[in-house]
Amino acid sequence: MATIAEPQQDYSILPELPADVFTAPLKKPAHVGEDWLEPKQTEYSSEEDDIWNDLFARQMDVLSGRAASAFMAGLQKLNLNRGGVPEFGKLSEDLSALTGWTVVPVPMLIPDHVFFWHLANRRFPAGNFIRTRETFDYIQEPDVFHDVFGHVPMLTDPVYADYMQEYGRAGWKAMRYNHLKALGALYWYTVEFGLIEEAPDDIRAYGAGILSGPTEAVFSVEAESPNRIMLNVDRVMRTDYVISDLQPTYFVIESFEDLYRQTVERDFDRLYRSLAPSFTYANSAVIDVDNVLHRGTQEYWLRGGRGSGARPV
Ligand SMILES: [Fe+2]
Repeated sequence: MATIAEPQQDYSILPELPADVFTAPLKKPAHVGEDWLEPKQTEYSSEEDDIWNDLFARQMDVLSGRAASAFMAGLQKLNLNRGGVPEFGKLSEDLSALTGWTVVPVPMLIPDHVFFWHLANRRFPAGNFIRTRETFDYIQEPDVFHDVFGHVPMLTDPVYADYMQEYGRAGWKAMRYNHLKALGALYWYTVEFGLIEEAPDDIRAYGAGILSGPTEAVFSVEAESPNRIMLNVDRVMRTDYVISDLQPTYFVIESFEDLYRQTVERDFDRLYRSLAPSFTYANSAVIDVDNVLHRGTQEYWLRGGRGSGARPV
């Protein structure tokens, strides 16, 4: 059976980005090297620590019963509620004792090939800066709250931790086939906006994009508007997504073992050879092969979505 990992590949070496592969143009700040790592984490002011604490408290008000059990357990294991922005050194020590992952500071979004390389080596790149009071409710660039609060607790789960490493390794093949968009959709619909069915009628969120904001934490699991469809990796990698609004469709996994298995057992060579250059399915589409848990009314987007005053129902 073909696997996601290429046995002959040396993942310890930073891959070259093939010249014909399109990625977002990012200008590397002069003070960082090819690994894009900050020499050290920012020293946060007490106002910045307060912003972290307020964001943390706001999320804790909504996450009970809505966040995946593995996420809530991860918050506890890493003691993320000790107050102020966590110190990456201590966080990495605790996390690496659990699953061998570390958290490393980066200045901003980093290029795909560098991101894949860090994940393949069990390093999670986390934004160094924290949002301001003015951008408290919504920021487009991932900051330290999104990255550390949203992503890092899940890395305490051993199976999820392996999935993230396999995702990084999968980047090599996606670059070779020039299908980064498809692999990006998989990240989007799992790592950022994934849901898990913990028990019948008990859907929880494990995606960091959901867990680091109050509106989507409720909307993703309870609202009538979005579709909730069981994850099928092949289908998800053909599906467009929304960057700056709530998702019209969420994909649901049975377990992290299921997510891991679906991904590593996928024949990506075959998949990439059959993919169209752009996405086949719209982000709100429900198609024949879907195992639909909830067919959304799409009311929120029909009323105009973000910026229109439409309620996230
Ligand atoms: Fe993220």
